[in-house]
Amino acid sequence: MTAITVRAPAKVNVRLSVGPPREDGYHDLVNVFHAVSLFDEVTAEPADRLRIEVRAAPGSPVPVEGVPVDDGNLAARAARLVAGRLGVEPRVALRIRKAIPVAGGMAGGSADAAAALLACARLWDDVGRLDLMALAADLGSDVPFALLGGTAVGLGRGERLTPLPTGGTFHWVFATAHGGLSTPAVYAECDRLREDRHVPPPEASDALAAALASGDAKELGAALHNDLQPAALSLKPELRRTLDAGLELGALGALVSGSGPTCAFLAESGGHAADLAAALAEKGVAAFLLCADGPVPGATVV
Ligand code: C5P
Repeated sequence: MTAITVRAPAKVNVRLSVGPPREDGYHDLVNVFHAVSLFDEVTAEPADRLRIEVRAAPGSPVPVEGVPVDDGNLAARAARLVAGRLGVEPRVALRIRKAIPVAGGMAGGSADAAAALLACARLWDDVGRLDLMALAADLGSDVPFALLGGTAVGLGRGERLTPLPTGGTFHWVFATAHGGLSTPAVYAECDRLREDRHVPPPEASDALAAALASGDAKELGAALHNDLQPAALSLKPELRRTLDAGLELGALGALVSGSGPTCAFLAESGGHAADLAAALAEKGVAAFLLCADGPVPGATVV
């Protein structure tokens, strides 16, 4: 059997409404995921044992130091999960090429897990016995969306997905920060900031759904919302300067992506996104800047 390569997209959360902490430590969400054109690639090839190799994708500025190459890597856990369900040994080499910022709030680890699930299923599950969506949800809250792609609302932990109609292409700029943020730490900070308040259940937004459906970038910019943003700003106050700089430079909307620290800016067009990225680079408010469009498909064999 030859090598199989799968690419899987990054996400930005165009709405992240976070309810109170649950008994199991998770939070119920209304999580509107939007897949954007930054892709990690995972190549799976038969090997003597499970091996992981992680590098930046050709031409990508994404630093990959510190990404685990053992079972701490979600792609390794995905390979073991698929092998375990099929009753085979996980004898596979996974070559991961990263273009999605690491620990950036863009679900790069989840994309790698989704890509590894699909690639290993192609290697070992020739009759298609596995429910990859269910396996994805076992690996992490954001992994099912990395399989699905497009734009979708996730309920529960974010894993119960319903696709949302999107009326056009949106153009984004992503500003990465120096250093990452830990997702559990950001959720814990969100709980701490809200501990004296009644926290209602998470809510959907009709204005957001209408903006997505019509493809109106101005409306979408106005409807962007992330309940984790105050927590991310509390842990990394310098992100305020990044968000403000993008808005001053004419972004249609700005928010922290997921648990951060990557900041997302919505632009009017691809050209506007390139100009905005150049202007933000000049201000020195980001580690590096990436332009991407959405929505794009989920994990795909290439
Ligand atoms: O599901 P995943 O392993 O990606 O979640 C990472 C962490 O993020 C969880 O351990 C939890 O602290 C937090 N989380 C949460 N509520 C969610 C999703 C994630 O509290 N809906």
